[in-house]
Amino acid sequence: MKNFLVHDPSPAEDSEPEMTEEEKKIPSWDNLLNVHRARHPGKPLAGLRILDVGCGGGLLTEPLGRLGANVLGIDPVEDSIYTAQLHASYDPDLSDRVSYQACTLEELSSEEEVQGAGQFDAVVASEVVEHLADLETFAFCCNQVLKPGGSLFITTINKTNLSYALGIVVAEQLLRIVPSGTHDWEKFISPVELERLLESNGFSVQSVQGMLYNPVSGAWSWTNSTAINYALHAVKHRDDPQPDRAEERSPRPEDHTAATHS
Ligand SMILES: C[S@@+](CC[C@H](N)C(=O)[O-])C[C@H]1O[C@@H](n2cnc3c(N)ncnc32)[C@H](O)[C@@H]1O
Repeated sequence: MKNFLVHDPSPAEDSEPEMTEEEKKIPSWDNLLNVHRARHPGKPLAGLRILDVGCGGGLLTEPLGRLGANVLGIDPVEDSIYTAQLHASYDPDLSDRVSYQACTLEELSSEEEVQGAGQFDAVVASEVVEHLADLETFAFCCNQVLKPGGSLFITTINKTNLSYALGIVVAEQLLRIVPSGTHDWEKFISPVELERLLESNGFSVQSVQGMLYNPVSGAWSWTNSTAINYALHAVKHRDDPQPDRAEERSPRPEDHTAATHS
């Protein structure tokens, strides 16, 4: 996250305010929150434009908006977007900061291509990449929609025996905390593979951190092990030679609007 945050934290603020409950819901934003919190108490993400890819019902979109960011949540499932819009409408404070659009990342990226350079300071994709059939196109499109130097935050599931045992056998088949068939182990990706994919699509990976879910408390915490869930932060290169190479390698984003999801 560092590259995204190098700009001037206010020198006057040496003591950091306590984290709010909203901030605690977004642990992978630590550095981002620390810098901006000093400048906008209570609204540490003020002034940032964020894209929440695969937002579903807006579980992450709303907290990001409450932290002051201008957030666009996108998801191809219209019912999810309707639910997200309805839920956000109960909080008038969100009306000028949170918006939703029923579309895929590929469709949005095509619109951005027409408009010119990427417009987002950050893209978040929480629990999305393990549902995609074409990660090459996902990486390309994330690059397209980001400003140079913008940040990409991904949380996903590693492709290990342990993730199969806990993520599919235990979570789906035994405990049924996730509907059966939600995940396809073949689509899981290791941090090394994801890093390679992003580095070849104009990103520089800054950090990879293991995450652990406690099904009893319902809380997430950081762990040194990336064997099951992990979070990755990458930054788009400022001088980006990537789009030409990607066009040679894969068709244009509008040819990928049928990316699969579950
Ligand atoms: C498991 S849900 C994650 C929802 C939310 N991000 C969260 O963490 O609670 C994955 C979401 O990705 C969406 N999705 C799948 N393919 C997509 C695409 N090509 N572009 C945008 N969203 C997509 C699905 O519709 C689904 O809502």
